[in-house]
Amino acid sequence: MVAGNESFRILFVGDVVGRPGRRALRELLPHILEEERPHFVIINSENSAGGFGVNRRSAKALFDAGADVLTNGNHTWDKVEAFELVDEDPRVLRPENLPPGTPGCGCGVFEAKCGTRVGVLNVIGRVFMNPAEDPFRAGRRMLDDMRAETPLLFVDFHGEATSEKQAFGWHVDGLATAVVGTHTHVPTADSRILKNGTAYQSDAGMTGGYEGVIGMDRDASLRRFLTGYPIRFEPATGDLRLDAVLIDADKQTGRATAIRRVQKRLLEG
Ligand code: FE2
Repeated sequence: MVAGNESFRILFVGDVVGRPGRRALRELLPHILEEERPHFVIINSENSAGGFGVNRRSAKALFDAGADVLTNGNHTWDKVEAFELVDEDPRVLRPENLPPGTPGCGCGVFEAKCGTRVGVLNVIGRVFMNPAEDPFRAGRRMLDDMRAETPLLFVDFHGEATSEKQAFGWHVDGLATAVVGTHTHVPTADSRILKNGTAYQSDAGMTGGYEGVIGMDRDASLRRFLTGYPIRFEPATGDLRLDAVLIDADKQTGRATAIRRVQKRLLEG
């Protein structure tokens, strides 16, 4: 289905893992853009630099591939450059509910190429995650603020627990256009539209090597589980795939009309 005039289409791409992930994105995203023609592209970049964190180079690669905005998560600060990057470029978001005084912003209203404004919010969960401020209250407050500027509001909820992500979806049902989770790197098959019009999926998945363990080299991961040693992780390089979620929404109301998962696989010659 091609989105009509009054419909606005958002593409959200799951965590891009290291160089293999950036390659998958570079080679596969153009096909999705061509086929699906989204108006706005949001990509989670928190694993884009070497599998851990984001830097100027990896952010540029994601913007060059077609991203309008980048979201992040618990790995935001793994590369020290990120502390400057989030202040240099407002299109690079970090989770909103970090301690006061943290550099950068957790949300922003951006203009799509067609002129339509889109609010993007990035929050981080607290269940099985490092301590953070309350994502429920902080997230809702920022969505309420952005709603004054546009009804099209997208949320990347970066969290481990599906219960927390689902609860947040209900918490902002009818306020956000879409709530999509990240962090587990495994796409979930629960895409749906909640009662009051918020599109929801617990996890978008990842963009990277499926021959690994959540995008990291499987031998290293296995050795870590078998020995308990702090073995260094490298991004997996085999079976490159791109996981994404497409959301259609009514431009006037911000209510979602459709949500669907997209997965593309890079066929090696
Ligand atoms: Fe994460």
